[in-house]
Amino acid sequence: MKVEIYHASKFGNGEKVVAYLQGLLTAKGHQVNFRHVRDAKPKEMPSADLYIFCAPTRLGKPIGKMRRFLKKAQLPQGAKYALIATHGQPVPDKKTGKMPTQEEIEKYQQNLPIMEGLLNEKGAVKVADLKVYVNGATMKGPLLEGWEKDVEAFAARLG
Ligand SMILES: Cc1cc2nc3c(=O)[nH]c(=O)nc-3n(C[C@H](O)[C@H](O)[C@H](O)COP(=O)(O)O)c2cc1C
Repeated sequence: MKVEIYHASKFGNGEKVVAYLQGLLTAKGHQVNFRHVRDAKPKEMPSADLYIFCAPTRLGKPIGKMRRFLKKAQLPQGAKYALIATHGQPVPDKKTGKMPTQEEIEKYQQNLPIMEGLLNEKGAVKVADLKVYVNGATMKGPLLEGWEKDVEAFAARLG
């Protein structure tokens, strides 16, 4: 199948994830391109059997560049897509030492549902999604140990 991946990585973690995913899918015989959204035109997206969008999180949402890209994206009706959100791993509060509650964690992890909402409005159909975590103390990385296994399981779900 032909797969087009769009990412909006700022610190390089998401880019590492999609590069690894490209390798896995290519090894299975798929034709895979990936690029940063800043190098792509949302109204001129090539046709593909599957689109994959990967975005870092900012205050719970997909980074602005990806939100704007998805709002403008022109996809064929019924296009299939998969999503990857990269998140800072939840860590204890620096002052109180307390871990965030489940509710607080959810508030800062709305990246996937927001991307999904933007794409579903266009009649696109989700096939899979994945959350990948980076070190929560730095918020900039590196990716948490074992991330490759999660990406491998995700690749397997893409068929
Ligand atoms: C200003 C700022 C705000 C952030 N806000 C969140 C957040 O609300 N939720 C979250 O899970 N991660 C948050 N992060 C961590 C990012 O998700 C992380 O930097 C990103 O996933 C790393 O991916 P990249 O290397 O591809 O840019 C934030 C990072 C920065 C710099």
